[in-house]
Amino acid sequence: MTVEQIRVSSQWLDLREPADAAARSRGLVEHLRRQLPSAGRLEIHDLACGSGSMGRWLAPLLPGPQLWVMHDRDPDLLEVAAATPPGPAADGARVVVATRLSDITQLRPDDLAGASLITASALLDLITGDQLADLVGLCSAVGCPVLLTLSVVGRVELAPAEPLDRSVAGAFDAHQRRMTAGGRLLGPDAVSAAAGRFRMMGHRVLVRPSPWRLGPADADLAAEWLTGWLDAACEQEAELAAGVGAYADRRLAQARAGQLAVTVGHSDLLVLS
Ligand SMILES: C[S@@+](CC[C@H](N)C(=O)[O-])C[C@H]1O[C@@H](n2cnc3c(N)ncnc32)[C@H](O)[C@@H]1O
Repeated sequence: MTVEQIRVSSQWLDLREPADAAARSRGLVEHLRRQLPSAGRLEIHDLACGSGSMGRWLAPLLPGPQLWVMHDRDPDLLEVAAATPPGPAADGARVVVATRLSDITQLRPDDLAGASLITASALLDLITGDQLADLVGLCSAVGCPVLLTLSVVGRVELAPAEPLDRSVAGAFDAHQRRMTAGGRLLGPDAVSAAAGRFRMMGHRVLVRPSPWRLGPADADLAAEWLTGWLDAACEQEAELAAGVGAYADRRLAQARAGQLAVTVGHSDLLVLS
C-alpha cells in the first residue's frame, strides 16, 4: 500500500521553503539537541524529503558532522535535494547528503539502521491510519528520536474574514480526510493520531504549534496556497464549486495584492524514547 500518488512540484516546495523554515518549532530543536549523541557523526534519515528543505533548515541548527540520508519516491526531487545540500552544521562541521529512491511506506528497520534521528516534514497528513501505524512501528524499532514537522491541523484564518471562509475550510478538511485506494487519509487528524500512537508505544511526545503566518511579503505563496485550498474544497463539494466564483476571484486578487493575511495551522512533534 503506498501514499496517494500526488506529485509535488519543486517550484511549490521552493515557494514554501522560507515560510516552512520560519514556522518549524525551534523550541523542539532545543529539546532534540539535548537527546542527540555528542560525539561522532549524526546519521539523519529524512523521510519524504522532497527537495531537501528540512535538511537545509535543521542541519545548521545541530552541532557536529552529519550525514543526511534523504528518502523520496520522486527522483527529480531527490536530484534537487542532492544539488542543494544543507550548509555546514551549527559549529561549522561538515554535512554530507546521500539520496535514496524509496517508498517510505515500505521501509524496514534495517534500512534505517544506524540512524541518530528520523525526520519528516509535511508528510503525516498525507498518509492513512495504517501507514501511520507502520511508520510508528518502524521508528520505534529503530529507537532514535523522531522529529515530524508541519502537519496540518485544520485551522485556517483569513483576514479580513468572510462568511464563506468557514464553508471552504470545512470542505478542504473533508478533502484532506478523503478516502483513497489505500484507505482514508489522516489529514488534520494526523497529529493527534501520531502523538497517541507513539505514546501508546511508551514514548515521550512533545507537540508544538508551527503555523504559517503569511503577510504582504508572502503574496506569491498566499496566492498559490489559496488556489490549491479552493481547488481542493471545490473538488470535494460540487455545490460549493457552483457558488464560490466571485468569492474566489476576490480572495485571489486580495492575496496577489498582499492584502490577505493567511494563517495556516500546523503542528510539530518530537518523539523521544
Ligand atoms: C508535501 S511534500 C514535502 C516535502 C519535504 N518533506 C518538505 O517539507 O519540503 C511531500 C513529499 O512526500 C513524498 N512522498 C509521498 N509519499 C511518499 C512515499 N510513499 N514514499 C516516498 N516519498 C513519498 C513526495 O514525493 C513529496 O516529496
